[in-house]
Amino acid sequence: MAVRKLGVLTSGGDCPGLNAVIRAIAHHAVSNYGWELWGIAYATQGLRQRQAIAIYPHSFDRQGPDPLLCSGGTILGSINRGDTLAQQAEILAGYADLGLDALIGIGGDGSLAILQQLARAGGWQFIGIPKTIDNDVAFTERAIGFDTAIHTVAEALLNLGSTAASHDRIMIAEVMGRQSGHLALHGGIAGGADVILLPEIPYRLPELCHYLQQLRDRWQRRYAVIAIAEGTHHPPEVDRSHAGLGEQLAHAIAAHDARLEARVTVLGHVQRGGQPVASDRLLAAQMGYAAVERIAAGASGEMMAWQGGRVVGVALDSVCLHSPTLVDPHSALVDTAAGLGIFLGDRNLAPWRGSACPTH
Ligand code: F6P
Repeated sequence: MAVRKLGVLTSGGDCPGLNAVIRAIAHHAVSNYGWELWGIAYATQGLRQRQAIAIYPHSFDRQGPDPLLCSGGTILGSINRGDTLAQQAEILAGYADLGLDALIGIGGDGSLAILQQLARAGGWQFIGIPKTIDNDVAFTERAIGFDTAIHTVAEALLNLGSTAASHDRIMIAEVMGRQSGHLALHGGIAGGADVILLPEIPYRLPELCHYLQQLRDRWQRRYAVIAIAEGTHHPPEVDRSHAGLGEQLAHAIAAHDARLEARVTVLGHVQRGGQPVASDRLLAAQMGYAAVERIAAGASGEMMAWQGGRVVGVALDSVCLHSPTLVDPHSALVDTAAGLGIFLGDRNLAPWRGSACPTH
């Protein structure tokens, strides 16, 4: 069926680069294919409530650079909670009432799985675009927002490093990444962390403290920066009565060696905000363009994926099956971190080896 009205929505936790994807879709779909583009408010809630706005190219850039290219967040709004599938009938009815011929959904693995289910039930022509600072969507080397979040984490770690050095302290930064440590690993290496703790690699407290003592005694490095992913599992010797992973670690380190004074920073939603870096804007342009091309070609049930320097289409069903992806404890990047002398815990204790997904 020929496309006349294309919908676009953003779903799940926001991240930088979403507006740049919407912009790319608008330019290609409206200017080149002559379709109408409708932005759906608040993901599937907008379908249910029939809330959509027409999006045109050049709406915002008549007086200067396009804010859609550079702004964080999503102009459409998003949701990352609620039992969406319980509202399936209303959502499908809303989609039909809006008269959409096809839909592009920008989301993480959870949102894409829900949208794929709705698309199948409703017979929608649907294409997904991966976004998440966690970068744990299978079969894509990069999701929108990840590069910017790496930059944010790395900058924060560098800032922590300079104040840590002034006071001979251990700085612990809690990094986002619900189940996976991709962001902590990439941001930690780029930000010069001495220790990177991940959900995927177990560590023992005595070894960690020994490493910190060695830094001090052997190299006269009297401070250290620790990046700890939010899903990390502490070993039994860490007392969990304090609130928060970072605080628990800080107390455990100080209890082990009183010379090791630690402070904690929870980077939190700062990691999801801000302007997308150039590489995220570039990825957004390529994924937005490619998604429109796939819609024009009549494709459905695909996700745009970044593999080997280009965008390809992969089956959404396999993406959902293999997501979220974890850090491979034996990947080249983990080897690199270990080679740089970063403490990562004990990779031989990692319960899981190798990636189910060839691109992670
Ligand atoms: O999945 C993205 C993410 O930012 C995770 O890294 C984090 O655990 C979670 O979302 C936070 O969600 P919320 O915005 O609901 O607090």
